[in-house]
Amino acid sequence: MEPEVRPVAVRGLEDVIAADTRIGYVDGANGKLYYAGYEINDLAKHASYEECVFLLWNDRLPTKKELMDFRAEIIPEMTLPRPLIQWFRRVPRGVHPMVMLRSAISDLALYDKETEDNSLEANRRKAARLVAKVPSVIANFYRIYNGLDLIEPDPKKGIAVNFLRMFTGKEPDKKSREAIELMFVLHADHGFNASTFAARVTASTLADIYAAVTAAIGALKGPLHGGANQRVMEMLEGIGSPDDVEDYINGLLARRERIMGFGHRVYKVEDPRARHLRKYSEDVCGGDVACSRYYAISRRIEQQVKKTKGIYPNVDFYSATVQHALGIPVDYYTTVFAASRIAGWTAHVMEQHADNRLMRPRSQFVGKLPRRFVQMEKRKK
Ligand code: CMC
Repeated sequence: MEPEVRPVAVRGLEDVIAADTRIGYVDGANGKLYYAGYEINDLAKHASYEECVFLLWNDRLPTKKELMDFRAEIIPEMTLPRPLIQWFRRVPRGVHPMVMLRSAISDLALYDKETEDNSLEANRRKAARLVAKVPSVIANFYRIYNGLDLIEPDPKKGIAVNFLRMFTGKEPDKKSREAIELMFVLHADHGFNASTFAARVTASTLADIYAAVTAAIGALKGPLHGGANQRVMEMLEGIGSPDDVEDYINGLLARRERIMGFGHRVYKVEDPRARHLRKYSEDVCGGDVACSRYYAISRRIEQQVKKTKGIYPNVDFYSATVQHALGIPVDYYTTVFAASRIAGWTAHVMEQHADNRLMRPRSQFVGKLPRRFVQMEKRKK
């Protein structure tokens, strides 16, 4: 029997349209990103993270009263279930924070009475809990793991600033507050990236929102996706001085290795988020010798990679120096990405559940077919 003849598989699903969405749009040819139709440059300039979350979930910007009510609803949700805090104390040493986060978010489902309810109303309430609790999990785990006291969320502050103060234990200054807010706004959604797609595939089986977000966190961890920001900082540390950039980059390219924080499947020009982060990276690093050196190295890498490969930095490149300046340890960088992207993941799960059809593509079978079964005693290697 001959296998059924089919068109060839699209490797990496490049340019495949997998669903309709009103949430995010990446215009790769023109280097533009939109949340529910609003351009990221406008949102980065004028909107808070909570406004973006409301926008992604409701397809419109909130009024002042709605925003106040929304904040009043979500900030108290930053408190975590006690058993989860106790579990943090039992996590073995040396675990990557993304592994902890993936397990912790799956664990949160145990303490939510609405886990099994996929109605729009229940999903909306669970989404609010997740948007508040993902940053708290990261901050609380970090402090417990490092023998530090926990910091309570401040109801007068937003999620991003609360995250930073609960993580570092310090009240952030104006520059740091602006930088963390910008980080959260810029990472909130990005169309059908790998982690969002993983969330939507999981949601399309009518699995619960915690299952979908757990799948998304698993996908975000990889260095070709959110894990790239950690690899960027490791590269900056490895280079050491701006004068060594040329040799270092040429060496990577000669070995056909990837330069982390560069290139993108959809953007053919500069990622608009990188432009904002480059500027903030310069601003927040000013005054700090090590951080300014990282910024200088980053600028040289950017010039060298553009010249030799003609590719541009993506969101992960300058996010590394911004996070360094904010006092985030390098192995937590990808968790900060997750702390913001939870907005988009939850929006996509709600959109999927609201108009669901199981996502079930096919593969091209390229093995031998059919094969005659061989009894154990007659098998050869
Ligand atoms: N370093 C060196 N060469 C690269 C890079 C890079 N970072 N990115 C793309 N290229 C080259 C690649 O070698 C190929 O060149 P050639 O045609 O000469 O062989 C060409 O560009 C096309 O590459 P591709 O592998 O077909 O591109 P892709 O769309 O499959 O990959 C990517 C997209 C993001 C995985 C890739 O650019 C990459 O590995 N980047 C480094 C990891 C990274 O920064 N990831 C973060 C992505 S954006 C934000 C996020 O999701 O977190």
